[in-house]
Amino acid sequence: MTLRIVYVVLALFVCPILSAKEQAAVAMPDKFSADVAKSILQQGGNAVDAAIAAQFTLAVTLPEAGNIGGGGFMLVYKDNKADFIDYREKAPTAADRDMYLDKHKNVIPNKSLYGIFASGVPGTVSGMWLAHQKHGSLPWKTLVQPAVDLAKQGFVMPERLAGYIDRYIKRMDKKGIKLNFASYFGHAVGGEVFKQPELAATLERIRDQGYDGFYKGQTAEIIAAFMQKAGGIINQQDLAAYQAQQRTPIQSDWREYQVLTSPPPSSGGIAILQWLKMYQNVSAELPAMAHNSSQYIHILAEIGKRVFADRAQYLGDPDFYDVPVKQLIDKDYIAKRSGQVDTDKISVSEQVKPGLHESEETTHFSIVDQYGNAVSNTTTINLGFGSGVVVEGAGFILNNEMDDFSAKPGVANVFGAIGGKANEIQPHKRMLSSMTPTILLKGGKIFMVTGSPGGTTIMSSVYQSILNAVVYNMNAEQAVNSPRFHHQLWPKDVIRYHDGLKPQVESELKDMGYKLDNRHFGDLQTIINRDGKLDAASERSGRGQSYVF
Ligand code: DON
Repeated sequence: MTLRIVYVVLALFVCPILSAKEQAAVAMPDKFSADVAKSILQQGGNAVDAAIAAQFTLAVTLPEAGNIGGGGFMLVYKDNKADFIDYREKAPTAADRDMYLDKHKNVIPNKSLYGIFASGVPGTVSGMWLAHQKHGSLPWKTLVQPAVDLAKQGFVMPERLAGYIDRYIKRMDKKGIKLNFASYFGHAVGGEVFKQPELAATLERIRDQGYDGFYKGQTAEIIAAFMQKAGGIINQQDLAAYQAQQRTPIQSDWREYQVLTSPPPSSGGIAILQWLKMYQNVSAELPAMAHNSSQYIHILAEIGKRVFADRAQYLGDPDFYDVPVKQLIDKDYIAKRSGQVDTDKISVSEQVKPGLHESEETTHFSIVDQYGNAVSNTTTINLGFGSGVVVEGAGFILNNEMDDFSAKPGVANVFGAIGGKANEIQPHKRMLSSMTPTILLKGGKIFMVTGSPGGTTIMSSVYQSILNAVVYNMNAEQAVNSPRFHHQLWPKDVIRYHDGLKPQVESELKDMGYKLDNRHFGDLQTIINRDGKLDAASERSGRGQSYVF
């Protein structure tokens, strides 16, 4: 109580004086998390405090992706130093390389996607705990409490979320997949208050006991008992052994910017740097390209072929596989790879090999605080509503992240990504990710904070938001809402794209031999700092909310 009073006094009097000149901004995937993050910053909390509070809020109000049963990556820039919290899920002890194969060594459909076998050991609570220990300034309890309130007292169910829940339940029924999701979410009605009492009790244990409130004691017992009853493989030892990991973010220069981005087990940081750097080389040889012209899209698709050939071969959990990070973004290597880009026609997919000589639903938020710090955080349970399994008695949804491993060499996962040895399943290993929370600095100051959901399309959303802001000088609203496109080597010559490309561009791409797949992807949450003025935007297609204040 006394502490709380001290914080209120600090918030009301000291912090506004300290920070009178500085703006803050949040770009959040829903209004609940935006309001909570804003309020934490207004109480004098820093960007990491706001991020932790937002993460727990999203576990309540954005159940398709927000979570305590999943994982993610938090990129922090604080007091002029970069840090990266890897809270990616891990394979349980009893996992093995062939666990999703039948006796003929064929992949069993849906086993890594839905139901009790689909989940990795959750990392979120450990990640938030570590972030708080390293960078937090407000008390842990203050940060978890808003989520407890929203779960206990309920929140008004957004119509779009109610519709999403309804469609998901019908789709699973139609596929004949049996899940307990409907008994927890089936009664949700748009516009009415939706309460989650079991989740509230779990969040209260996390609020009161921190890390131990999830990985030990009652919550861990509930999870392990539920797993045992349902025939799953995550046990109490797996939970007690889970620790989020601090890693060094990838830092690399590009034009006049310093890009801070995600290291392995994300493939995204290497991917966006390869994309930006190769684009820089290729475009330097050509007249300026119109934004989203067929030539622009073709060149970025050509680069994408090379990015994904490398991803499949070299990328995996760095604790298990020696990922050649430096070589993959090395200047000479990038020059060699960009030299292979054919600016006029499509390279033959089968001939695009990894280049070194030696052998949909996630969510993102971006925060800049009034002290000049930033957080770029992407978090996921993989597909919308994860494995569709709710831990009975604890009220939270488990992820289906195991599908991000390569179940069998050369067989694509749900995002069409292939992989081999580097990303094969091993106990305690983290599955490869495409999540790419990213921050750009200019002259040591934050220029941009960006990120998106979307599986393998994440990298395209992220690097295109950067090109939009830097090369095409767009404001945040334009940078997140301009039509985007994505190519990932396989399926062969397919470009996925948003509504809004010019019909002429579509026909030019078809004439070149591309197959076009018109499906939206991503939900960018982006903050741009133009000469000291913050500008924030949430992509229009989602439920996001941004504030500059
Ligand atoms: O970590 C990854 O790459 C995926 N599990 C992310 C999933 C995702 O973004 C789904 N969102 N639409």
